[in-house]
Amino acid sequence: MMQVEHQLRCTGCGRVVAQEALKEDFRCPECSHLYEVEYPAWSANSAADSAAQKRNLPNPSALRWLWKERRTSPEHKDQSGVWRFRDLLPILRDEANIVTLREGNTPLYELPRAARSLGLTRVYAKHQGMNPTGSFKDAGMTTALSVAHELGFNWVACASTGNTSAAMAAYAARAGMRSLVLIPEGKIAWGKLSQALDYGALTCQLHTDFDGCVRVLAEVVRRAPVYLLNSVNPYRIEGQKTPAFEIAESLDWQVPDHLIVPGGNLANSSALGKAFLEMKQLGLTDRVPRISVIQAEGANPLVRTMQANGGTELIPVEADTRATAIRIGNPASWRKCIKVIEATGGYVEQASEAEIALAKAEIGAEGIGCEPASAVTLVGLKKLVAKGLVQPSESVVLLLTGHTLKDSDYTIRYHRGDLLTEEEIAPLRPEIEFTRRNTVELDADVDQVLRALEKAVQP
Ligand code: F0G
Repeated sequence: MMQVEHQLRCTGCGRVVAQEALKEDFRCPECSHLYEVEYPAWSANSAADSAAQKRNLPNPSALRWLWKERRTSPEHKDQSGVWRFRDLLPILRDEANIVTLREGNTPLYELPRAARSLGLTRVYAKHQGMNPTGSFKDAGMTTALSVAHELGFNWVACASTGNTSAAMAAYAARAGMRSLVLIPEGKIAWGKLSQALDYGALTCQLHTDFDGCVRVLAEVVRRAPVYLLNSVNPYRIEGQKTPAFEIAESLDWQVPDHLIVPGGNLANSSALGKAFLEMKQLGLTDRVPRISVIQAEGANPLVRTMQANGGTELIPVEADTRATAIRIGNPASWRKCIKVIEATGGYVEQASEAEIALAKAEIGAEGIGCEPASAVTLVGLKKLVAKGLVQPSESVVLLLTGHTLKDSDYTIRYHRGDLLTEEEIAPLRPEIEFTRRNTVELDADVDQVLRALEKAVQP
C-alpha cells in the first residue's frame, strides 16, 4: 500500500486541492491555470516547517541503493523504470492499481560523431523512444492511467498528435479499459495511428488541427464520464519526471550541464524541470542542468512569446511542420515550461524544416535514429554551441522523444529526396546530400551489386 501523500497546487493562484476536488479538465476553477502534484512531506511550496521537512526527507543514499536494487527484482512494479522510483511518486492509494508495460529504463547513448563535429566531449542522447510504445509518453501514461484505473473510470481520452494516443491506447488495453482518441486528420504519422487501432482505441480523426482536437475534447470530458489523459493531467507529469532520475543515475548522480528537449505542448520540459529541481531539493544531486526547449520554426509559440514579451503572455500560432508530433500552436503547459527555463537558466531556440531533417539523418548515422520531432534537440545544440552558450567542456543530454520507426515515411522521403523543397534545402545542400542514402535499384545480378559496392567504397 502507498499512503496518499500528495496534494495538488494551482500553478497560478497557489490554491491547494485534494485529488477528489479536481475538475474534469484539470484546470483551476478560480484562475484556469494548471495544477501540479505536490508532496507536503518535502515539496518546496508546502507549509511544513523546515525542521519537519527535514525529518520527512527520504535518505538519498538509501534511495539510490533501493532504486538500483529493484532493477533485478522479479516484480513488475520494480522492473518498471517509472515505478522503481515510486518512493518519489506516492500518487496511488494502492500499488495493486499500477498498470505497467515495464516502461522506462531507457538507454543513455553517447553521440560521438555529434560531439566531435561540435567540438564537445560529452554529448548523450536519452532515448525515450526505446519505451514499450516507442515514445516518451509511456512514462507519464503509466502513472496517469493507473490513477484513472484506481478512480474506477472505464473510459480514458486524449487529443493527440499521435504518440499520446498510442501510449494511452496501449495502457488502457492492458488495464481492460476503453480509450477515445481525437487526432487531426492527415497530420499524424502512420506508425502512431496504426498503434491506436491495434490497441483497440475508438479513434476519431477530426477535420481540424491538434489545437482544435483539444478544444473539442475539453467539452467531451465535461459531458461524458471519460478521464482526460492529455498532459494537462498532473499525474502524467509525475511519470514524465522519471527519465530525469534515470539520467542522473546513469551519470552516477552527477547532473549534466545542459538538457535539451523538444517543445510541443510543453509538458515534457516542465516535467523534467520539476524532477531536477526536486532531486536537488532532496539532496540526491547538487545542482540542476540548464533546460533548453527547441521548437520547429513553423510551430514556435514559445519562441515568439519569449521574443515578444519575455514569457508573460502566450502568443499562439497557426502551427505547421512536418515534425507532426510538435505541430502545436497553443501549448497548454507554456507557463510551467517558462518557469523551468527561467529556474534553470535554459534557452529557447527554433529549427527549420531542413535543419530538422538533417539532424534526424545525423542521429540516424550514429546508429540510433529518432522521429523528426526529437531531432530538433540536435539542431538546438548546434545553435547554442554557435552562440557560445554551450562550452566545449560541458556535458549535454539530448532528450530523444520518439523511435525512428514512428515516422518511417518521413525518413524514406528524406533519403529519396522528395521531403523538402528546393528552397528549404538551399542553405544546407552539401550537408543534406552527404547524409542522403537512397536505395539503389538493380537487376538480380552479382556484377551489378559488386559495381554498386565498388562505387560506395570509393572515397
Ligand atoms: N516529441 C514527440 C515525439 C512528441 O510526440 C511530442 C508531443 C513532443 C516531442 C513534445 O512534447 O508536448 O510535452 O512538449 N506529442 C504529443 C502527442 C502532443 O499528442 O503525442 P510536449
